[in-house]
Amino acid sequence: MDKIVSLAKRRGFIFQSSEIYGGLNGFWDYGPLGVELKRNVRQAWWADMVTNHDEIATPAGAPSSFDMVGVETSIIMHPQVWKVSGHFDLFVDKMVDCKACKTRFRVDHITILSLTINFRLPEDDPSRIHVFYSGIGTIDEVRDANRKVIEKLEKAHGKENCWEGKASFLDIPDFARIKLPCPACSQLGTLTEPRDFNLMFKTTLGALGTDSDAAYLRPETAQGMFVNFKNVCDSSRVKVPFGVAQIGKSFRNEITPRNFTFRSREFEQMEMEFFCHPSQSLAWYQYWRDRRYQWYMKHGISKENLILREHTQDELAHYSVGTADLEYAFPFLDAGEYGELEGVAHRGDFDLRSHSEGKLCKENGQLVVEKNAEGKPKYPGSGKDLSYFDDQTRERFVPHVIEPAAGCDRATLAFLCESYHEDEAPDDKGTMQTRLVLKLHPQLAPIKVAVFPLVKKDGQPEKAADIYRDFKRAGIAAAYDQQAAIGRRYRRMDEIGTPFCITVDNQTMVDDTVTLRDRDTLEQTRVPVKGIVEELRGRLMK
Ligand code: GAP
Repeated sequence: MDKIVSLAKRRGFIFQSSEIYGGLNGFWDYGPLGVELKRNVRQAWWADMVTNHDEIATPAGAPSSFDMVGVETSIIMHPQVWKVSGHFDLFVDKMVDCKACKTRFRVDHITILSLTINFRLPEDDPSRIHVFYSGIGTIDEVRDANRKVIEKLEKAHGKENCWEGKASFLDIPDFARIKLPCPACSQLGTLTEPRDFNLMFKTTLGALGTDSDAAYLRPETAQGMFVNFKNVCDSSRVKVPFGVAQIGKSFRNEITPRNFTFRSREFEQMEMEFFCHPSQSLAWYQYWRDRRYQWYMKHGISKENLILREHTQDELAHYSVGTADLEYAFPFLDAGEYGELEGVAHRGDFDLRSHSEGKLCKENGQLVVEKNAEGKPKYPGSGKDLSYFDDQTRERFVPHVIEPAAGCDRATLAFLCESYHEDEAPDDKGTMQTRLVLKLHPQLAPIKVAVFPLVKKDGQPEKAADIYRDFKRAGIAAAYDQQAAIGRRYRRMDEIGTPFCITVDNQTMVDDTVTLRDRDTLEQTRVPVKGIVEELRGRLMK
């Protein structure tokens, strides 16, 4: 992971935000190459979901074609949206503070190691001591960090390897019972009780700044689609089933942002809300789960590193009937662990009904409007009718929603990680050297083709510049480079994932052909300059 982070900075993919002031935790900037890579990720998603969307084997009984449209909604929405959606009350993480060093931790990020020291003397009195340790990291990391203490205990009791180590995630009653050392400063008993911490960023509208002017930066783009359901139906003449897609920034005040861009406070989501008939929602849920899995594979993620994991009942969000996560084996995780790339959720009719009737909650397994002490809706909805009338079947119903919700930054990071390779390739003198190469899918590569003159004379720079301009004019991202030996120029392009390099040489001036080099196979072929733009366009589309 360190190598990827270092490459990302060195070659201008990703920088720490406000780096010259020491950076700001949880915020990242995309540099000249990163912005192109991320734009290509967005474009690949939007093409699959909206512009080039193609119906692939739709569920039995469902229409074989359906509409997909896009929206771009505002980041700050009416505060009632977040009360009705559940974010105001439920979008919380449990956190603890250290009263001594003032560090804040997310409870579920602290690993607690419970050690049992067994005494076997005297033989008839095998007593045990329980010791708790806390730390941030894997079980082994926490155990290693505490090894000195363990050794001291062992020595004091004249025993070796008499302890058993077992890690368990914290549950709240235990937290109250046991005195844990702070994972940062190691002081004992300085951690506060866990408290709820709402992850929404709060801001104020207008100049007065009173509590009634409070507003929130959206923590998800999804609500923009729900509140516009009626507008889209009325203006676009779409028919259920149909999908509404959006790409945009979301904000979450994560307690412990970490793992490069994986958990940030400002990030970009690519979400789609698919509205369908309740009787077909489970089949559509399967459809979108499988389709989204294929999308990552199609763009270069390998089967070994990608899993589709169905949530257990206790993991489900308050609105969800079923959710599956697409997870990737990020290199910052332990072997066998996966991090979430995307969630595909069956949200039932929770969102449309809540925005119509008032925030729903579950009571005896049923969704009912949550009431306050006076028996009125706790958070009233808009009162607008958000049902749908099917003019062919003459049926009125509240559509169910299937939501594939992806993170653009996480997808970009996964593509970077997956593409990072070190292999062997010959240098200018034919000696094999370690080569660093990003084997990015050609559609995602920030630069598609680099054009080089072999030497800086004999009309080669002019000819190479002409070819370079032809690519630019055709809308294909190209680079021109005439500095350094040709081998070094190839390496520079390999490192940023450029699929093709074209070299103009002496022979070009004779027969108008160039050398075309393939990043992955290292194969070099002679091709005519005439038609080279179309030739490469074809190869890039594969
Ligand atoms: N509308 C449903 C929703 O927002 P989510 O699982 O909370 O679901 C969807 O978010 C995706 O957004 C995640 O799978 C992840 O890729 C991305 N995401 C969420 N929190 C993030 C964070 N703090 N930093 C980067 N990406 C994040």
